[in-house]
Amino acid sequence: MCGIVAYIGKKEAYPLIVDGLRKMEYRGYDSAGVALLDQELSIYKKKGKVQDLENFVLNSKIKPTGTIGMGHTRWATHGEPSDRNSHPHTSGNGDLALIHNGIIENYATLKDALIELGHTFKSDTDTEVLVHLIEEIQKKYDLPIEEAVKKSLEKVVGAYAIVVMDKKNPDLIIGARNSSPLVFGLGEDEFFLASDASPIIKYTNKVIYLEDEDVISIHRNGEYKISNLQNKTNNHQIKELDLKLEELEKGGFDHFMLKEIYQQPATIEQSMKGRLNASEGWAILGGMSQHINRISKSKRIIMMACGTSWHSALIGEYLFEEIARIPVEVEYASEFRYRNPIIYEDDFIIALSQSGETADTLAAIEIAKEKGAFVYGIVNVVGSSIARITDSGSYIHAGPEIGVASTKAFTSQLSVITLMALYLGHERGKISEGYYRQLLNELETVPRKVEQILKKNDHIKYIASEIKNASNALYLGRGYNFPVALEGALKLKEISYIHAEGYPAAEMKHGPIALIDMYMPVVVIATNKSAYEKIVSNIQEVKARKGIVIAIINEDDTMIREIADFFIEIPAIAEPLSPLLSVIPLQLLSYHIALMRGCNVDQPRNLAKSVTVE
Ligand code: AGP
Ligand code: GLU
Repeated sequence: MCGIVAYIGKKEAYPLIVDGLRKMEYRGYDSAGVALLDQELSIYKKKGKVQDLENFVLNSKIKPTGTIGMGHTRWATHGEPSDRNSHPHTSGNGDLALIHNGIIENYATLKDALIELGHTFKSDTDTEVLVHLIEEIQKKYDLPIEEAVKKSLEKVVGAYAIVVMDKKNPDLIIGARNSSPLVFGLGEDEFFLASDASPIIKYTNKVIYLEDEDVISIHRNGEYKISNLQNKTNNHQIKELDLKLEELEKGGFDHFMLKEIYQQPATIEQSMKGRLNASEGWAILGGMSQHINRISKSKRIIMMACGTSWHSALIGEYLFEEIARIPVEVEYASEFRYRNPIIYEDDFIIALSQSGETADTLAAIEIAKEKGAFVYGIVNVVGSSIARITDSGSYIHAGPEIGVASTKAFTSQLSVITLMALYLGHERGKISEGYYRQLLNELETVPRKVEQILKKNDHIKYIASEIKNASNALYLGRGYNFPVALEGALKLKEISYIHAEGYPAAEMKHGPIALIDMYMPVVVIATNKSAYEKIVSNIQEVKARKGIVIAIINEDDTMIREIADFFIEIPAIAEPLSPLLSVIPLQLLSYHIALMRGCNVDQPRNLAKSVTVE
């Protein structure tokens, strides 16, 4: 899940690449490195953030010059984060440099064979094998570099997006991909390769998304050729990006995560735009309407995702089952793909992913497609791999999400799934007209209600200061709010490193209650009217064991506010829509706790934004 950026053109490449790496840093921040070609091939690489690399370059004797170059920000899979394991890696003869995102699965066999042939390795990475292999094949068959890259990749098993530079070809960069993303940007006399469009958009909005097994060679004069490993020349369409530079900046907020939390009234609204009209009484999604006959006849829905997107899918289970009366199975994509799943022709498969690049989700989709299933994608990143391989789908239109902890993508996924359930339920005649109209109306009120919750920020910050030193936390919820409890716990652990668990409130007495003592904060989502008394009992059980209760309650709540240690009020809303509101205070709570503990909120340790490795 590294970030890759490469440039060839007329400008000095270094500042451009470093700027691009900063935008790519959300993809990994174990180390950063740059290669530049200006007669000589210069490599600068450093463990840590892009800033560490910049400081290193500033103090280095050789100044970073050259109009062709590439950079990498790493999320280590093979070999600890260190200077020597940082990319770019170079060939034994020093002519070739290579950066890589992905995993070379057969690296050990290749490495042994290359060592036999006399190659010496300088790092512990799987990546370094590639650059030696290209050198070896180039030498053995006396091939031009493009051909050597291709021939080498034929021997490779695994996922990769790579860029190769060759000292002997100073007017050329070569890229290739398989299962890891690579975008080609076509500017005015300048060309880019990158893991996503964010480093490119400042210079051009014209891009080509490379496909699996594509190899691209880009000449400085603007000629480029894309062909695949089978030597088929591919004529890809140039796409125009609809992305604004300011969407990639913090816009006055201290962190991307905070900006993204505050964007939610707008992003939720955006996700429903043109898809919902409460006064006229309809909800419709273009991607579904084209296939509505097939979808309405489905006997089962299977939802596949990872992480936060998996939590959205769990809420989807409640929504589709209640509103559209279709049984739903929710699968971790990583588990689904390694079973021999049973898929029927009339299953409706929904894959959810913010990035659209999650390797496990992609692989699960491929398996479902092989078995003849119809796969629908709910994706944020336009043009991403999942958006392209699914049979149909809906974008959630949340705009770039840069904070590693997902926030606005979650609520936009929820609003899209809710619309899908409503559309399908109505189409199948499984929801009463009155309830349908009520939910449409209430859905339209969500953005304003989220705004009201955001005004409680200071109060939430105060609660954060009271519990910030905890070592553990428990999150409880029922029904629609059980997955929200899971999401609240995930947010807390990933950015504050406090161990947290989400549980269905009623399950507490079957085990987790043993953990409760005076040091244990227990966040209870207590907005459900349907199980109110039961939740009150659960809170009493926690209090009886001296746990600290933080309750998320409705504004009209009378009882829980009396017994909880802290409470956060949120506006009342129909239960199927309540996750859209109840998750907001949990996002803010985690944010403040993480900040107070001195954690890096946007770039939590060991994580990366899009998990493009399996
Ligand atoms: C969420 O905060 C995470 N960092 C992570 O669990 C994420 O949701 C997961 O990796 C799935 O990503 P995707 O939605 O891009 O597929
Ligand atoms: N496998 C390579 C490494 O460990 C690249 C990892 C990645 O894509 O995140 O350096």
